[in-house]
Amino acid sequence: MSFDLEVVRAQFPALSLTDSGTRRIYFDNPAGTQVPTVVAEAMTDCLLSKNSNLGGYFTTAKAADVIVQSARDAMADFLNAPSSDEIVFGQNMTTITLHLSRSIGRLLSPGDEIILSRMDHDANVWPWVLLARDLQLEIRWLPFNRETFEFDLDVLDDLISERTRLICVGGASNLTGTINNVRAICAKARAAGAMSFIDGVQSAPHIATDVVDIGCDFFVCSSYKFFGPHQGILWGRRERLEKLEPYKVRPASASIPGCFETGTQSHEGFAGIAATVNYFASIGASMGQPDTAVASTLSGRRGEIRNAMKLLFAYEEHLARHLIDGLTSINGVTVQGITSADAMCRRVPTVSFTHRSAAPAAVAKGLARENIFVWSGDNYAVEAAKALGVADTGGVVRVGPVHYNSIAEIDEMLEVLPGILAA
Ligand SMILES: Cc1ncc(COP(=O)(O)O)c(C=O)c1O
Repeated sequence: MSFDLEVVRAQFPALSLTDSGTRRIYFDNPAGTQVPTVVAEAMTDCLLSKNSNLGGYFTTAKAADVIVQSARDAMADFLNAPSSDEIVFGQNMTTITLHLSRSIGRLLSPGDEIILSRMDHDANVWPWVLLARDLQLEIRWLPFNRETFEFDLDVLDDLISERTRLICVGGASNLTGTINNVRAICAKARAAGAMSFIDGVQSAPHIATDVVDIGCDFFVCSSYKFFGPHQGILWGRRERLEKLEPYKVRPASASIPGCFETGTQSHEGFAGIAATVNYFASIGASMGQPDTAVASTLSGRRGEIRNAMKLLFAYEEHLARHLIDGLTSINGVTVQGITSADAMCRRVPTVSFTHRSAAPAAVAKGLARENIFVWSGDNYAVEAAKALGVADTGGVVRVGPVHYNSIAEIDEMLEVLPGILAA
């Protein structure tokens, strides 16, 4: 079987909801996706029959222990992490990053340099700016090319010095949709003896993540962006995690990963994460084509996840191309991202646009009246909005289809958009 949109959509109850008889079109996905039934059921089951703290002698405590381990195993498969001990859970990506940045700061000294990007979401910018202020670190900014919407890696070479300790970049932009060459960036960090911290929040929903292949030291993502519950996940390279001194209370575990998980966690969220990963695996098992090039190294669930991501990405490329073709044919619209038809593999389907005269918030409101959900503004990509010159004009309108959206939904939006832009 190849990709079957109807089979996929049937698994997401939210997709068939209506409001006063009007269908919903969810293009707000980069801010949070809908969940399949299996995820909600796993969370309900955890709350209704396995609700307990961890480490006890009785049935529910043992069941909760199993849930936590299952979620770690699932995320290790999802990220292709060497070990589930390297998976750390937290409330969300921002909280994890703020928390971990304090521990990373213990390895840094005044005058050390960190490289931040002008493309990233503020969650991978401001925690480091705050750290730099506390420790008198020097920040070097990696710009992106406004023509290509990509980083110029020669510029990165010029920014790296013998004092570079950390490079922080995103896997994919939540504003332009660009997929960054994090593998090359992490290789440069390694060669300079620096750590690399990758914000994978917007890449993880769209492309297969392989932290070993990327070669990063830390990779963070959020499962509510990839069809799961509100939860943040960190992968850290074992040698790095073990060298960090965690900010923790005395009763908390002294060893990884528990030493970075403060207080009681969301066990129902963990149950949801395992179900989310299994959702991807089921797509890979039922619809994916085995990837013979990697079959020997990625078998079982990892292989199924990879097959799923490959299949879903190909479908999403098709959606992105259709959406971008439609938007660029509307008079006065500028897509703030890669538009070339043969470069869809270098972007996720998150497409932001501006219009010559219509304010982004007014466009988002107009679409909301049609029950089409999009976001407007800078979407917290504060530096990127400034770099694109849209920070003072209301940002962008962001349309973010994912694999459960259809060409027909994009066409519905494209049909009403000119009227909204002209209003
Ligand atoms: C690229 C990117 N990084 C980080 C975040 C923050 O994630 P969280 O809400 O899990 O803190 C977002 C949220 O939109 C994002 O798009």
